[in-house]
Amino acid sequence: MKITINKKDKSRMGEVDFENLGFGTDFSDHMFVMDYDDGEWHDPRIVPFENLSVSPAMMTLHYAQTIFEGLKAYRTVDGDISVFRPHEHARRLNVSAERLCIPEVDTLLFMDALKKLLELDREWVPKKKGDSLYIRPFVFATDEYLGVGISKSYKFMIITSPVSLYYKEGLNPVSLVTSGEYSRACPGGTGYVKAGGNYAASLYPAKLAKDAGYTQVLWLDGLEHRYVEEVGTMNIFFYFNDELVTPPLSGTILGGITRDSVIDLAREWGVTVNVRRITIDEVLERAEKGELKEAFGTGTAAIISPVGKIAHGEKEVIVNDYETGELSHQLYDRLSKIRYGEMEDPYDWCLRL
Ligand code: COI
Repeated sequence: MKITINKKDKSRMGEVDFENLGFGTDFSDHMFVMDYDDGEWHDPRIVPFENLSVSPAMMTLHYAQTIFEGLKAYRTVDGDISVFRPHEHARRLNVSAERLCIPEVDTLLFMDALKKLLELDREWVPKKKGDSLYIRPFVFATDEYLGVGISKSYKFMIITSPVSLYYKEGLNPVSLVTSGEYSRACPGGTGYVKAGGNYAASLYPAKLAKDAGYTQVLWLDGLEHRYVEEVGTMNIFFYFNDELVTPPLSGTILGGITRDSVIDLAREWGVTVNVRRITIDEVLERAEKGELKEAFGTGTAAIISPVGKIAHGEKEVIVNDYETGELSHQLYDRLSKIRYGEMEDPYDWCLRL
Protein backbone atom coordinates (compact mmCIF):
# COMPACT_ATOMS: atom_id res chain seq x y z
CA MET A 1 0.00 0.00 0.00
CA LYS A 2 1.27 3.43 -0.87
CA ILE A 3 1.61 5.85 2.00
CA THR A 4 0.54 9.39 1.12
CA ILE A 5 2.34 12.30 2.74
CA ASN A 6 0.87 15.67 3.63
CA LYS A 7 3.67 17.84 5.00
CA LYS A 8 3.22 20.48 7.66
CA ASP A 9 3.99 24.02 6.42
CA LYS A 10 5.97 25.20 9.40
CA SER A 11 7.75 23.02 11.97
CA ARG A 12 6.97 23.42 15.69
CA MET A 13 10.51 22.42 16.63
CA GLY A 14 11.37 25.94 17.74
CA GLU A 15 8.73 25.70 20.50
CA VAL A 16 10.44 22.73 22.16
CA ASP A 17 13.20 23.08 24.77
CA PHE A 18 15.52 20.27 23.65
CA GLU A 19 17.89 21.01 26.54
CA ASN A 20 15.26 20.09 29.12
CA LEU A 21 13.11 17.34 27.69
CA GLY A 22 10.67 15.46 29.89
CA PHE A 23 8.87 12.29 28.89
CA GLY A 24 5.94 12.25 26.48
CA THR A 25 5.00 15.90 26.65
CA ASP A 26 6.24 17.22 23.29
CA PHE A 27 5.23 15.77 19.94
CA SER A 28 6.91 15.98 16.58
CA ASP A 29 5.41 17.58 13.48
CA HIS A 30 3.85 14.54 11.81
CA MET A 31 1.93 11.37 12.59
CA PHE A 32 1.01 8.23 10.70
CA VAL A 33 -2.67 7.21 10.40
CA MET A 34 -4.42 4.27 8.75
CA ASP A 35 -8.05 3.16 8.97
CA TYR A 36 -9.70 -0.24 9.11
CA ASP A 37 -13.24 -0.82 7.81
CA ASP A 38 -15.02 -3.59 5.91
CA GLY A 39 -12.35 -6.11 6.83
CA GLU A 40 -9.29 -4.24 5.58
CA TRP A 41 -6.75 -1.60 6.42
CA HIS A 42 -6.75 1.32 4.00
CA ASP A 43 -5.59 4.92 3.41
CA PRO A 44 -2.16 4.81 5.05
CA ARG A 45 -1.04 8.42 5.37
CA ILE A 46 1.36 10.76 7.10
CA VAL A 47 -0.25 14.04 8.13
CA PRO A 48 0.59 16.96 10.43
CA PHE A 49 0.24 16.09 14.13
CA GLU A 50 -3.23 17.28 15.05
CA ASN A 51 -6.19 16.52 17.31
CA LEU A 52 -8.67 13.85 16.33
CA SER A 53 -12.39 14.28 16.21
CA VAL A 54 -14.13 11.22 17.66
CA SER A 55 -17.66 10.22 18.60
CA PRO A 56 -18.46 10.25 22.34
CA ALA A 57 -19.74 6.71 21.68
CA MET A 58 -16.40 5.50 20.28
CA MET A 59 -15.95 2.02 21.76
CA THR A 60 -12.37 2.49 22.95
CA LEU A 61 -13.48 5.24 25.31
CA HIS A 62 -15.86 2.83 27.02
CA TYR A 63 -14.37 -0.65 26.81
CA ALA A 64 -10.65 -0.07 26.22
CA GLN A 65 -10.19 -2.14 23.07
CA THR A 66 -6.82 -0.54 22.46
CA ILE A 67 -3.18 -1.64 22.33
CA PHE A 68 0.14 0.14 21.96
CA GLU A 69 3.88 -0.20 21.56
CA GLY A 70 6.81 1.91 22.70
CA LEU A 71 10.18 2.00 20.92
CA LYS A 72 12.95 4.53 20.48
CA ALA A 73 15.06 6.17 17.78
CA TYR A 74 18.52 7.48 18.68
CA ARG A 75 20.87 9.97 16.99
CA THR A 76 24.12 8.13 16.36
CA VAL A 77 27.53 9.72 16.75
CA ASP A 78 27.79 9.96 12.96
CA GLY A 79 24.42 11.69 12.61
CA ASP A 80 22.35 8.69 11.48
CA ILE A 81 19.12 7.61 13.09
CA SER A 82 19.15 4.20 14.77
CA VAL A 83 15.89 2.51 15.76
CA PHE A 84 16.14 -0.21 18.38
CA ARG A 85 14.61 -3.57 17.38
CA PRO A 86 11.60 -2.24 15.44
CA HIS A 87 10.70 -5.65 14.00
CA GLU A 88 10.29 -7.03 17.50
CA HIS A 89 7.89 -4.24 18.34
CA ALA A 90 5.88 -4.84 15.18
CA ARG A 91 5.66 -8.51 16.10
CA ARG A 92 4.62 -7.78 19.68
CA LEU A 93 1.94 -5.34 18.51
CA ASN A 94 0.31 -8.22 16.68
CA VAL A 95 0.52 -10.49 19.73
CA SER A 96 -1.45 -7.82 21.60
CA ALA A 97 -3.82 -7.42 18.64
CA GLU A 98 -4.77 -11.08 18.70
CA ARG A 99 -5.62 -11.03 22.42
CA LEU A 100 -7.82 -7.96 22.04
CA CYS A 101 -9.57 -9.07 18.82
CA ILE A 102 -7.91 -6.25 16.90
CA PRO A 103 -6.97 -6.86 13.24
CA GLU A 104 -3.25 -7.42 12.70
CA VAL A 105 -1.11 -4.72 11.16
CA ASP A 106 1.09 -5.95 8.31
CA THR A 107 4.67 -5.92 9.59
CA LEU A 108 6.09 -4.61 6.31
CA LEU A 109 3.62 -1.75 6.33
CA PHE A 110 4.45 -1.03 9.98
CA MET A 111 8.13 -0.78 9.02
CA ASP A 112 7.45 1.33 5.96
CA ALA A 113 5.28 3.74 7.96
CA LEU A 114 7.91 3.99 10.67
CA LYS A 115 10.73 4.68 8.22
CA LYS A 116 8.80 7.31 6.29
CA LEU A 117 7.67 9.07 9.45
CA LEU A 118 11.19 9.13 10.86
CA GLU A 119 12.68 10.32 7.59
CA LEU A 120 10.24 13.22 7.55
CA ASP A 121 10.76 14.12 11.23
CA ARG A 122 14.41 13.11 11.52
CA GLU A 123 15.39 16.53 12.91
CA TRP A 124 13.19 15.70 15.92
CA VAL A 125 15.53 12.92 17.04
CA PRO A 126 17.40 14.67 19.89
CA LYS A 127 21.11 15.31 19.52
CA LYS A 128 21.84 15.26 23.24
CA LYS A 129 23.37 11.99 24.49
CA GLY A 130 20.90 10.09 26.65
CA ASP A 131 17.86 11.57 24.91
CA SER A 132 15.90 9.88 22.14
CA LEU A 133 12.73 10.01 20.08
CA TYR A 134 10.08 7.85 21.73
CA ILE A 135 7.84 6.21 19.13
CA ARG A 136 4.30 5.28 20.09
CA PRO A 137 2.40 3.04 17.65
CA PHE A 138 -1.17 2.28 18.79
CA VAL A 139 -4.41 0.81 17.53
CA PHE A 140 -7.87 1.57 18.85
CA ALA A 141 -11.47 0.60 18.15
CA THR A 142 -13.52 3.35 16.51
CA ASP A 143 -17.07 1.95 16.16
CA GLU A 144 -19.79 4.15 17.61
CA TYR A 145 -21.57 1.59 19.73
CA LEU A 146 -22.36 1.15 23.41
CA GLY A 147 -22.86 -2.62 23.37
CA VAL A 148 -19.90 -4.72 24.48
CA GLY A 149 -18.48 -6.40 21.40
CA ILE A 150 -15.68 -6.44 18.86
CA SER A 151 -15.45 -3.19 16.93
CA LYS A 152 -15.57 -3.42 13.15
CA SER A 153 -13.51 -0.28 12.59
CA TYR A 154 -10.09 0.80 13.92
CA LYS A 155 -7.34 3.34 13.57
CA PHE A 156 -3.64 2.50 13.62
CA MET A 157 -1.47 5.50 14.39
CA ILE A 158 2.15 6.31 15.13
CA ILE A 159 3.10 9.46 17.00
CA THR A 160 6.60 10.39 18.18
CA SER A 161 7.91 12.40 21.09
CA PRO A 162 11.44 13.65 21.88
CA VAL A 163 12.22 12.43 25.40
CA SER A 164 14.73 12.25 28.18
CA LEU A 165 14.73 9.57 30.89
CA TYR A 166 11.40 8.22 32.17
CA TYR A 167 12.03 8.23 35.93
CA LYS A 168 13.22 11.44 37.56
CA GLU A 169 15.82 9.24 39.30
CA GLY A 170 17.50 8.59 35.89
CA LEU A 171 20.17 5.96 36.40
CA ASN A 172 19.94 6.45 40.17
CA PRO A 173 18.10 3.76 42.13
CA VAL A 174 14.32 3.69 42.51
CA SER A 175 12.38 2.26 45.46
CA LEU A 176 9.75 -0.45 45.11
CA VAL A 177 6.97 -1.75 47.33
CA THR A 178 4.85 -4.87 46.86
CA SER A 179 1.09 -4.86 47.15
CA GLY A 180 -0.53 -7.55 49.26
CA GLU A 181 -3.96 -6.58 48.02
CA TYR A 182 -3.81 -5.60 44.36
CA SER A 183 -2.68 -7.53 41.30
CA ARG A 184 -1.54 -6.36 37.92
CA ALA A 185 -2.44 -9.54 36.07
CA CYS A 186 -3.91 -13.01 36.58
CA PRO A 187 -3.45 -16.24 34.62
CA GLY A 188 -5.64 -16.09 31.54
CA GLY A 189 -5.80 -12.29 31.63
CA THR A 190 -4.04 -9.70 29.50
CA GLY A 191 -0.81 -9.29 31.49
CA TYR A 192 1.40 -10.45 28.60
CA VAL A 193 0.14 -7.83 26.14
CA LYS A 194 0.43 -4.07 25.88
CA ALA A 195 -3.19 -3.21 26.43
CA GLY A 196 -4.15 0.26 27.63
CA GLY A 197 -6.42 -1.25 30.28
CA ASN A 198 -3.48 -2.95 32.04
CA TYR A 199 -2.02 0.46 32.75
CA ALA A 200 -5.32 2.00 33.88
CA ALA A 201 -5.73 -0.79 36.42
CA SER A 202 -2.24 -0.19 37.79
CA LEU A 203 -2.82 3.48 38.59
CA TYR A 204 -4.50 3.13 41.95
CA PRO A 205 -1.95 0.74 43.51
CA ALA A 206 0.83 2.90 42.00
CA LYS A 207 -0.70 5.96 43.64
CA LEU A 208 -0.76 4.16 47.00
CA ALA A 209 2.90 3.24 46.51
CA LYS A 210 3.78 6.87 45.71
CA ASP A 211 1.81 8.15 48.70
CA ALA A 212 3.82 5.75 50.86
CA GLY A 213 7.07 7.23 49.47
CA TYR A 214 8.02 4.59 46.87
CA THR A 215 8.68 5.06 43.17
CA GLN A 216 6.66 2.08 41.88
CA VAL A 217 4.89 -1.16 42.74
CA LEU A 218 6.80 -4.43 42.56
CA TRP A 219 4.00 -6.67 41.32
CA LEU A 220 3.56 -10.15 42.75
CA ASP A 221 1.54 -12.91 41.13
CA GLY A 222 -2.21 -12.52 41.29
CA LEU A 223 -2.97 -15.92 42.83
CA GLU A 224 -0.72 -16.20 45.88
CA HIS A 225 1.00 -12.81 46.04
CA ARG A 226 4.26 -14.71 46.50
CA TYR A 227 6.09 -14.73 43.17
CA VAL A 228 7.70 -11.61 41.77
CA GLU A 229 6.38 -10.62 38.33
CA GLU A 230 7.33 -7.13 37.13
CA VAL A 231 7.39 -3.43 37.97
CA GLY A 232 4.92 -0.76 36.77
CA THR A 233 6.57 -0.07 33.42
CA MET A 234 9.49 -2.50 33.54
CA ASN A 235 10.61 -6.11 33.78
CA ILE A 236 12.65 -6.96 36.87
CA PHE A 237 16.05 -8.62 37.36
CA PHE A 238 17.84 -9.75 40.55
CA TYR A 239 21.58 -10.35 40.63
CA PHE A 240 22.40 -12.84 43.39
CA ASN A 241 26.06 -13.67 43.84
CA ASP A 242 26.80 -14.76 40.26
CA GLU A 243 23.30 -15.61 39.09
CA LEU A 244 21.10 -13.12 37.26
CA VAL A 245 17.43 -14.04 37.67
CA THR A 246 14.30 -12.77 35.95
CA PRO A 247 10.81 -14.29 36.09
CA PRO A 248 9.61 -16.38 33.12
CA LEU A 249 7.07 -15.07 30.61
CA SER A 250 4.31 -17.22 31.96
CA GLY A 251 1.38 -15.26 30.52
CA THR A 252 1.08 -12.57 33.17
CA ILE A 253 4.28 -10.68 32.35
CA LEU A 254 5.03 -8.44 29.38
CA GLY A 255 7.75 -9.86 27.13
CA GLY A 256 10.03 -6.85 27.25
CA ILE A 257 12.41 -6.25 24.35
CA THR A 258 14.94 -4.59 26.65
CA ARG A 259 14.57 -7.64 28.95
CA ASP A 260 15.44 -9.88 26.04
CA SER A 261 18.45 -7.75 25.08
CA VAL A 262 19.76 -7.72 28.67
CA ILE A 263 19.58 -11.52 28.83
CA ASP A 264 21.64 -11.74 25.61
CA LEU A 265 24.26 -9.27 26.84
CA ALA A 266 24.63 -10.83 30.28
CA ARG A 267 25.04 -14.30 28.77
CA GLU A 268 27.60 -12.94 26.32
CA TRP A 269 29.58 -11.65 29.32
CA GLY A 270 29.52 -15.06 30.98
CA VAL A 271 26.93 -14.23 33.63
CA THR A 272 24.65 -17.17 34.47
CA VAL A 273 21.14 -16.03 33.59
CA ASN A 274 18.29 -18.06 34.98
CA VAL A 275 14.76 -17.36 33.85
CA ARG A 276 12.86 -18.85 36.75
CA ARG A 277 10.15 -18.17 39.28
CA ILE A 278 11.32 -16.28 42.29
CA THR A 279 9.46 -15.61 45.51
CA ILE A 280 9.57 -12.28 47.29
CA ASP A 281 10.72 -14.23 50.38
CA GLU A 282 13.79 -15.47 48.51
CA VAL A 283 14.59 -11.91 47.44
CA LEU A 284 14.32 -10.58 50.99
CA GLU A 285 16.14 -13.47 52.64
CA ARG A 286 19.03 -13.40 50.22
CA ALA A 287 19.21 -9.61 50.46
CA GLU A 288 19.46 -9.94 54.25
CA LYS A 289 22.24 -12.52 53.85
CA GLY A 290 24.13 -10.12 51.57
CA GLU A 291 23.62 -12.26 48.47
CA LEU A 292 21.56 -9.76 46.49
CA LYS A 293 24.23 -7.71 44.77
CA GLU A 294 21.93 -5.72 42.49
CA ALA A 295 18.35 -5.43 41.32
CA PHE A 296 17.19 -3.45 38.31
CA GLY A 297 14.22 -2.91 36.04
CA THR A 298 14.37 -2.88 32.24
CA GLY A 299 12.07 -1.22 29.73
CA THR A 300 12.06 0.90 26.59
CA ALA A 301 11.12 4.06 28.45
CA ALA A 302 13.08 3.33 31.62
CA ILE A 303 16.08 1.60 29.90
CA ILE A 304 17.95 0.21 32.96
CA SER A 305 16.59 1.41 36.26
CA PRO A 306 18.51 0.24 39.35
CA VAL A 307 16.48 -0.68 42.43
CA GLY A 308 17.79 0.68 45.74
CA LYS A 309 15.05 -0.40 48.12
CA ILE A 310 12.41 -3.13 48.23
CA ALA A 311 9.59 -3.15 50.79
CA HIS A 312 7.21 -6.02 51.44
CA GLY A 313 4.81 -5.95 54.38
CA GLU A 314 6.80 -5.07 57.47
CA LYS A 315 10.13 -5.80 55.82
CA GLU A 316 12.36 -3.46 53.88
CA VAL A 317 15.75 -4.17 52.33
CA ILE A 318 18.31 -1.81 50.87
CA VAL A 319 20.04 -3.10 47.76
CA ASN A 320 23.73 -2.37 47.10
CA ASP A 321 23.76 0.51 49.63
CA TYR A 322 21.25 2.34 47.42
CA GLU A 323 23.91 2.70 44.75
CA THR A 324 23.79 1.86 41.07
CA GLY A 325 25.60 -1.47 40.70
CA GLU A 326 28.33 -2.41 38.30
CA LEU A 327 26.22 -4.75 36.18
CA SER A 328 23.45 -2.13 35.87
CA HIS A 329 26.06 0.40 34.76
CA GLN A 330 27.63 -1.99 32.27
CA LEU A 331 24.28 -2.92 30.75
CA TYR A 332 23.20 0.70 30.45
CA ASP A 333 26.52 1.60 28.94
CA ARG A 334 26.58 -1.24 26.40
CA LEU A 335 22.98 -0.64 25.31
CA SER A 336 23.72 3.08 24.91
CA LYS A 337 26.87 2.47 22.90
CA ILE A 338 25.09 0.10 20.53
CA ARG A 339 22.11 2.44 20.15
CA TYR A 340 24.16 5.60 19.63
CA GLY A 341 26.43 3.81 17.17
CA GLU A 342 29.53 4.06 19.37
CA MET A 343 30.05 0.32 19.18
CA GLU A 344 29.45 -2.48 16.78
CA ASP A 345 25.94 -3.96 16.84
CA PRO A 346 26.70 -7.70 16.79
CA TYR A 347 23.08 -8.71 17.27
CA ASP A 348 21.80 -6.52 14.43
CA TRP A 349 19.42 -4.83 16.83
CA CYS A 350 19.46 -1.37 15.27
CA LEU A 351 17.83 -0.26 12.07
CA ARG A 352 19.89 2.59 10.61
CA LEU A 353 18.20 5.40 8.68
C1 COI B 1 7.71 1.50 27.43
O1 COI B 1 8.72 1.26 28.07
O2 COI B 1 7.69 1.72 26.21
C2 COI B 1 6.44 1.48 28.08
O3 COI B 1 5.55 0.91 27.57
C3 COI B 1 6.29 2.31 29.25
C4 COI B 1 5.23 3.29 28.97
C5 COI B 1 3.94 2.78 29.51
C6 COI B 1 5.58 4.64 29.44
